[in-house]
Amino acid sequence: MTTEKDRINEIIQREGGDILESERFQRARTIPHHKYTNVAEHSLAVTEWAVHLYEQRDYPDTDVRDVVRACLLHDIGMTDPEIHDSVSFLKAYSHPERSALIAAREYNANEVQLHAIRHHMWPVCVIPPDSPVGWLLLRADKHCTRSDALRFLDITFRGQQP
Ligand SMILES: [Fe+2]
Ligand SMILES: [Fe+2]
Repeated sequence: MTTEKDRINEIIQREGGDILESERFQRARTIPHHKYTNVAEHSLAVTEWAVHLYEQRDYPDTDVRDVVRACLLHDIGMTDPEIHDSVSFLKAYSHPERSALIAAREYNANEVQLHAIRHHMWPVCVIPPDSPVGWLLLRADKHCTRSDALRFLDITFRGQQP
């Protein structure tokens, strides 16, 4: 029996398989993120949640491909050591632009995907997303970041292992 998770993963493979298999995304598996996860695992979780949200409602003018690709690439700038090794507040400001740069250069990202990536840290950045793709990414990223933070608190204060 096909579950919702299987179906969502099929969509992600179809629309973003080349990203998942790319050398840079593979490298993202080795880059820690939010203490107990890594950039690739977090980005995949964000993508799964965003596609889940996308399917809850009708978005007639929104291509699921843009949702998948913007989500998979939103933190790819963290694979750049210059960004990853900077202090956290600088990292929060600078990684969306670096992600967009890499997404454009290496993954041929379109304008919808690039705007969503650039503004996914709102309200840290002043300008909010301007499309459903951007809002889906922002909501899914906040959801997954909150889950990562709760996992960190569980491990730190209750001694539960990841
Ligand atoms: Fe981010
Ligand atoms: Fe993120």
